[in-house]
Amino acid sequence: MQKNCIILASGNGSNALNLIGKFYGRKNNGSSSINIVAVVSNVPNAPVVEKVRKNEPELPVFVIPFTHLSERDRFERELDDIIGKYNIDFIILAGFMRILSKEFVSKFSRKIINIHPSLLPAFKGRDSIKRAYGYGVKYTGVTVHYVTPEVDSGEIICQEVVKIEDNDDIDSLEAKVHSIEHKIYPIALKSIIGDVVYKS
Ligand code: GAR
Repeated sequence: MQKNCIILASGNGSNALNLIGKFYGRKNNGSSSINIVAVVSNVPNAPVVEKVRKNEPELPVFVIPFTHLSERDRFERELDDIIGKYNIDFIILAGFMRILSKEFVSKFSRKIINIHPSLLPAFKGRDSIKRAYGYGVKYTGVTVHYVTPEVDSGEIICQEVVKIEDNDDIDSLEAKVHSIEHKIYPIALKSIIGDVVYKS
């Protein structure tokens, strides 16, 4: 039985596009239990909005502005309406850079999944790749986890390590982290929404 999923994204959209490429409509062809049915961005001019509309003109993309905390209630109300309208089973955060309220997160317990560009619990929050690089750690990585009211603290679904080589700079490290994200997020999602066992 297919599960309807909505993607929330705020930025460039590389993870969103990667997931759409695997789990949307005709590409998915009913072969996966994951079915992406809509995308929501809180940032009107985020590249993800234009990229998804260009690549998949029939996939609904909603923009619900949410920059300041004062906009969160309205954002969550409108998101809730979309979730109801599209019978959403899972909410997939793909570079969504806002914190959802405790009430909203509790309502969708174990139904909201996030990808974070570090080995949590290290480097929670923003600019995690830059901070890991700046700290001088030798290994960083990627974590996929359930979203709970405490930021970047929910149960870990899977992690993969990225080694920081002496000749890495911030650009090469970001590229390595993103490429691991694109590899493990689809697998992690299948492992909880579908029937694939994740092995790192
Ligand atoms: C990704 O690296 C994702 O892990 C990170 O934002 C980037 C979005 O890139 N998310 C967070 O930092 C969440 N705390 P993308 O827009 O190209 O997918």
